[in-house]
Amino acid sequence: MANNNNSSFTLPGLNAAIIMDGNGRWAKKNTMNVTSGHEKGVDVVRRIVETAAEAKLGSLSLYAFSTENWSRPKKEILGIKKLIIKAIDSQVPELIKQKVKLDFFGDFEDFGKQVTDAIDQAQKDTDFQHPSLKLNIALGYGGRADIIQATKLMANDINSDKLSVETINDEIFFKYLNAPIRELDLLIRTGGDHRISNFLLYHLAYTEIQFCDTLWPDFTELEFIKCLKKFSKTERRFGKRSN
Ligand code: IPE
Ligand code: IPE
Ligand code: MG
Repeated sequence: MANNNNSSFTLPGLNAAIIMDGNGRWAKKNTMNVTSGHEKGVDVVRRIVETAAEAKLGSLSLYAFSTENWSRPKKEILGIKKLIIKAIDSQVPELIKQKVKLDFFGDFEDFGKQVTDAIDQAQKDTDFQHPSLKLNIALGYGGRADIIQATKLMANDINSDKLSVETINDEIFFKYLNAPIRELDLLIRTGGDHRISNFLLYHLAYTEIQFCDTLWPDFTELEFIKCLKKFSKTERRFGKRSN
């Protein structure tokens, strides 16, 4: 839980995202296997979601597994699969209590029926009309794949006269994308690397990006609040002259 000093800090409606990187290095540093690193990572997710709800964010989008991560060793992927099922089982009751709406996006069919069924059920169980927070989990997600599938869908709709080329704008393009968000205000990447790794490419146009060296399993509520506070002091100009 966020400590009392910070629990009063809020950024109502803010759309934030996190590239949760560093589980593997954390495991190595602590002479554990990589799955233990991911397991510790899930624990951090729970606390950061709680903090995000307390800070009254509108949405929190978490990069859990990328399209490129499918190339990792089978054993690691199996470990992640088991963790997803375990995490949904243990966390959803708490999310329901907190009125957090859970949404998974990306191509995660290859995790198998047990995972897709658990995800379906979790999404149904948390389908609140007025959620306290929207929690979006990117699983098997790639920004490029998202843009390509959106383009294909649009082409099909143009061919069948459901969409006219002239009407395509940002608003419509967002609707065809898989990610259940529009513009992002803040993106945080943990783990020390300064890259996007194929996350929400279309959405990041004017997002404030913060990189921090902390490995994800060591990331704390306090650090998260610090990122939010830093964000709140940033002047966002969107290409215009400042006032
Ligand atoms: C992020 O941690 C989690 C996933 C990509 C699934 P990593 O496993 O990439 O951790 P590092 O970057 O190897 O330390
Ligand atoms: C980004 O981390 C993806 C997730 C955190 C899910 P990676 O570890 O896959 O990214 P790279 O390989 O360092 O770019
Ligand atoms: Mg990594």
